[in-house]
Amino acid sequence: MKDLIATSLKYQHGQLLVLDQYQLPHREVWLPCDSVEAMVAMIRKLQIRGAPLIGIGASLLLAHLAEQETGVPALEQAAQTLRESRPTAVNLMNCMDRMLATLHRDGTAALSATAEAIFDEDIELCRRMAEQGAGLIRPGSAILTHCNTGSLATAGVGTAIGVIGEAQRLGKGIHVYVDETRPLLQGGRLTSWEMRRLGVPYTLICDNMAAMLMAQGKIDCVLVGADRIAANGDFANKVGTYSLAVNAHYHGIPFYAVAPYTTVDPQCPDGSAIPIEQRAADEVRGVGGSFGEIVWSPGDAPVYNPAFDVTPAQLVTGWILDTGILTPQQVAEGSLSHLR
Ligand code: MRU
Repeated sequence: MKDLIATSLKYQHGQLLVLDQYQLPHREVWLPCDSVEAMVAMIRKLQIRGAPLIGIGASLLLAHLAEQETGVPALEQAAQTLRESRPTAVNLMNCMDRMLATLHRDGTAALSATAEAIFDEDIELCRRMAEQGAGLIRPGSAILTHCNTGSLATAGVGTAIGVIGEAQRLGKGIHVYVDETRPLLQGGRLTSWEMRRLGVPYTLICDNMAAMLMAQGKIDCVLVGADRIAANGDFANKVGTYSLAVNAHYHGIPFYAVAPYTTVDPQCPDGSAIPIEQRAADEVRGVGGSFGEIVWSPGDAPVYNPAFDVTPAQLVTGWILDTGILTPQQVAEGSLSHLR
């Protein structure tokens, strides 16, 4: 496979390396990954995360294993194990299906080209979403975002953060409010890091401050990513997205989901059919609890910890895709059912 370099994932000199997102922003540590077990552990711990990136990472690993002369049955098993590592983001399943289709049609030697294509395509999809979305951003806008949707979550400039970065590049004079994104703090840890790298002026807020900022007239639009978009436009994204959408709707603030076509699941009729990942209780009992850091609640506090929630289509102003911006009317007429 050729060398492939992204902000948080690279294939270089025959080695797959993952930037450990759990340690960001304080430490930038690259971890080698050469087995299914290692990749699954990294995906589960969110050391590699973000809907597009987990699919790309899993694809590069499969291609790498094929280059190490792993046989077809073991590759099939690897694809199955990888696709089961996180249930909500459909990009992972799409990537595994694409790699398996190549394997069955053209054999193991063809997997590298498909993995490279998946990687390169994501860069291009991000570029197109950024271009489409930046056109919607009015000069001087204050944008609220949630979780992390940038170069750490994709091979390219990202989804919602890609739009933000492009608006900044165009000199639109934007300001970004970053939801810290409990429980794992992807906003506080990762989006803040990305805003600083992009030179975008930003303010970090706790998730529960968003409604007040909206009421104060401080937010002009909300941009979020997606992990799976159903055929009717309902979409899953990091838990907390739904309440932002409700609040934006109440305050009459435009609310956009930004995602590539690889996040659309036309087979999924609506949000109720999206599987929602449930995660460890310790993540809520403290911060980084499952990794042995601070626990502030009673150690046995009963916890509910869904990693994602579903935002109904009727709360969405537009779906910013690589192919263009879909309106609620286009989505209601079935545009998401026959994308590509
Ligand atoms: O649990 P995570 O950190 O993988 O969740 C990520 C998100 O929810 C992102 O908003 C989504 O994957 C879109 S990122 C391009």
